[in-house]
Amino acid sequence: MSQQILILDFGSQYTQLIARRVRELNVYCEIHPFNKIPTLTPDIKGVILSGSPCSVRDAGSPDIDMSLFEGKVPVLGVCYGAQLIAHKTGGNVLPSTIREYGRAKLSTVDHHNALLKEISLDTQVWMSHGDTIASVPDSFEIIASTPSVKVAAYRVKGTDTYGIQFHPEVTHTLQGKELLRNFVVHICGCAQDWTSDQFVEATVADLQKKLGNDRVVMALSGGVDSTVAAILVHKAIGKNLHCIFVDNGLLRKGEFEQVLDSYKHMGLNIKGVDAKEKFYTALAGLTDPEAKRKAIGKTFIDVFDEESHALTDVKWLGQGTIYPDIIESVSVKGPSVTIKSHHNVGGLPAKMKLKIVEPLNTLFKDEVRLVGKTLGIDPTILGRHPFPGPGLGIRILGDITADKVRILQEVDSVFIGGLREHGLYDKVWQAGAMLLPVQSVGVMGDERTYERVVSLRAVTSTDGMTADWAHLPYEFLATVSSDIINKVKGVNRVVYDISSKPPATIEWE
Ligand code: XMP
Repeated sequence: MSQQILILDFGSQYTQLIARRVRELNVYCEIHPFNKIPTLTPDIKGVILSGSPCSVRDAGSPDIDMSLFEGKVPVLGVCYGAQLIAHKTGGNVLPSTIREYGRAKLSTVDHHNALLKEISLDTQVWMSHGDTIASVPDSFEIIASTPSVKVAAYRVKGTDTYGIQFHPEVTHTLQGKELLRNFVVHICGCAQDWTSDQFVEATVADLQKKLGNDRVVMALSGGVDSTVAAILVHKAIGKNLHCIFVDNGLLRKGEFEQVLDSYKHMGLNIKGVDAKEKFYTALAGLTDPEAKRKAIGKTFIDVFDEESHALTDVKWLGQGTIYPDIIESVSVKGPSVTIKSHHNVGGLPAKMKLKIVEPLNTLFKDEVRLVGKTLGIDPTILGRHPFPGPGLGIRILGDITADKVRILQEVDSVFIGGLREHGLYDKVWQAGAMLLPVQSVGVMGDERTYERVVSLRAVTSTDGMTADWAHLPYEFLATVSSDIINKVKGVNRVVYDISSKPPATIEWE
């Protein structure tokens, strides 16, 4: 990358949002934990210090050596970052005496200051801090205040070091984007030339250099990330990329054939492997969700290992890992418990002695979609809902049989088809059906039935970490329910899941 902003993470829940906002300005940036600061290279045009749940007054709170970059590149401290700079320079940071959480309005703004150019007086900002900067040393100038926060923003006189106590990255700070643009573009001098076209061009060139004539193997899942990653690698090395798509018997109805077909259309060198029976055998009798996940993961590795052994001279394993997974695993909070293993190929590289190539590991999910669009990938693939690696295996509660898979595939197909037909598919983040391990009494014609119950689940979310149940129209639910009961033999009751996450999860297992 020719230019970038370095974001130092002190553990704030908003750090990723700062990165999102900077990238929305078409400027590349990276998040690094405060205790692993990379060496300052000429491409780093500025540094942003994030917020933190900690207090600078506490012993052992996150600290950094400012001399690494202060005076060399512009610095913007946000909330804790601003308090830290002030605290280290002789300012006074104290517990807030009044509540400083939520909306506030700037009551003074120094419009001559480059950071606040065109920021309106009275503009709304978002505060979220337990401490406040009570006083700053003489070497600082206060450039904005609110009625209750005197030091809402400051500049260290004669330098390009700034601090703001509010959060420009959250949408409640109405001119937050303008403020970040002032910093990144006007103060740091970034060119705003980081676009998905430029990303594709630079990444393909990098991949060609890195991979040369080596062969790469990739497991594809039909999902957005692995598809976009594969197309990038394919653009770089063509037929030297070998893709494998495994039918684990737990995919959606018709998905294996459709996805394989679209991969072939995209020119990928892909082999479809029907391993349904192997998976059903490995799953036979297992009821515990984690045991099922393990069995699916292990079987996948066995199948993939066997298939890739048929290929000679493969040196690399390509993966669709994206940036949030990387940040989570190196964040100051330590690896998150919510992190998901990708494509269930964990353990493979060591076993097969492969090097890893992950062309999307600097991108957020929506950036992956933009890159996919630039690459000309079909919008229906790019807009697909997330689907878990273990597939229907964790949507059939209890043990798995081919017959249960067939029932659930039919139900899911009616539900998802209905969402598409009624223009609701793109309005929800993820949807699917769960086959419950209970039977209930019903009546069909003159006959008493005793059949299965399915639960439909549709959620709205931005990242899957938290989610709300989607408020689908009653009329739609009524239509889908009767369609399912009429069309899918073996089901006589449909319920709709109205639990949010937390405390529930999206999947039932
Ligand atoms: P939960 O159920 O944890 O799901 O709220 C959050 C997101 O993760 C997906 N999910 C998985 N994905 N392997 C995966 O690849 C898994 O074992 C797994 N479990 C859940 C889920 O579909 C949702 O998008």
